Amino acid sequence: MTLPELALDLKDCRRCRLASGRTQVVFGVGNPHATIMFVGEAPGFYEDRQGEPFVGAAGRLLNELLEAVGLSRADVYIANVIKCRPPDNRDPLPDEVDTCKPFLFQQIELIKPKVVCTLGNFAIQTLCGKKIGIMKVRGQVFQVQEFFVFPMLHPAAALHQGNLNEPLREDFRKLKAFLDRPQEPAATVEQMNLFG
Ligand code: URA
Repeated sequence: MTLPELALDLKDCRRCRLASGRTQVVFGVGNPHATIMFVGEAPGFYEDRQGEPFVGAAGRLLNELLEAVGLSRADVYIANVIKCRPPDNRDPLPDEVDTCKPFLFQQIELIKPKVVCTLGNFAIQTLCGKKIGIMKVRGQVFQVQEFFVFPMLHPAAALHQGNLNEPLREDFRKLKAFLDRPQEPAATVEQMNLFG
């Protein structure tokens, strides 16, 4: 299976209730050979319309943060845990996450990034299979299977709560430091218990 084949497979997905309210499946975008992947929560209004993750206000902030550390959208791959917009942008329900997450893991397997940067609570909890709070683990590096996970705040959180803007920028500075010196020791997911 290739990434385009997986995208095609999901194009008309009706595995969960979100199929009935979406405009289209928002599969993911960017460099299919990226070493850095970003994972958000779910498409919002503009993403659902345009078929691309992070194209609304949170996406503009993400672009700015990427540029600030010398990256662009073309360098990285961007996807969400959930590929269809939940009605009124509500939080994804547990069964929706369970239905969609195998496809996120397939994307990761096909892209083979070195670092998966999770944005917000949903993405870190989905990738690590643990109910962990982003504030406890943000900015730290964890080893998951063959890749590192780097939990970051969600750009939308910083847009809604101004006091999270600087912490989000700090997460991106830490990401840059890690990318410049990737041999930094990483904790395992089991060791996450130490933090939260
Ligand atoms: N928020 C997300 O988590 N994903 C998007 O694609 C847009 C906003």
